[in-house]
Amino acid sequence: MKEVAGDTFQQETKYHRGKLPTGGLDRVKKPELYKRYHNVPVTELDPPLISAGGRIWEIIKNRRSVRSFGGPEITADEISQLLWATQGITVGDRNFVLRAAPSAGALYPIETYLIINRVKGLEPGIYHYEIETHALSQLKSGNFREKGARAALDQVAVETADTVFIWSAVFDRAKWKYKQRAYRYIYMEAGHIAQNLAIAAVELGLGTCQIGALYDDEVNGILGLDGYNESVIYMSSVGRQK
Ligand SMILES: Cc1cc2nc3c(=O)[nH]c(=O)nc-3n(C[C@H](O)[C@H](O)[C@H](O)COP(=O)(O)O)c2cc1C
Repeated sequence: MKEVAGDTFQQETKYHRGKLPTGGLDRVKKPELYKRYHNVPVTELDPPLISAGGRIWEIIKNRRSVRSFGGPEITADEISQLLWATQGITVGDRNFVLRAAPSAGALYPIETYLIINRVKGLEPGIYHYEIETHALSQLKSGNFREKGARAALDQVAVETADTVFIWSAVFDRAKWKYKQRAYRYIYMEAGHIAQNLAIAAVELGLGTCQIGALYDDEVNGILGLDGYNESVIYMSSVGRQK
């Protein structure tokens, strides 16, 4: 196997403004949504408990991608809950800690940044989550609604969100052990983290929308990342619906 497969994948699948894949979707060629086995034994299952079970089932049922925000502003306390639920330290001591979401080899390559648009108790701007101290470092101040949305292919869900979670990867943290395979794990980990955010948001009465459509290096520019050693991986808009 080429020793650059993951590096090449990461760079060559970036979206660049004016160079998005072209051509409409061929609906006729849309692959089948379900795989079905025929002529094999089938066991019918009891329906899942939703309302009658623990609250987690309702939360999973109620999670939906929300793209329209504008309800009462969210608060710094809610941001604190969401950060903890995504990347907060949940167990451990000074020498070895574990976090809310799993990480291959406990190497934790993902960093969390926030665009704060409208959060009670936090000035608008760009922040970095300091995991060890559960604190936010303010990297930039100002209104990043438009710039953030432009970098996400002009998505309204980014412009109108109260906050946008942006996850980047420090690739070497995982490549140190897993070499090129690290890229697989990094994207899986971003998925775990984003799902924690989505279900934690439901618990708080908030909505989220995962954002994978983004101009990588424009987002990197907003955060001050070089796009090689550290690059944006995934984003999620967060807010309260009207
Ligand atoms: C990897 C990934 C990337 C996504 N990117 C976007 C995006 O850029 N914009 C958007 O509006 N929704 C995005 N979504 C949300 C999907 O469109 C949504 O999950 C899907 O339509 C199913 O709806 P649900 O989340 O309400 O169940 C993304 C979801 C995933 C998992």
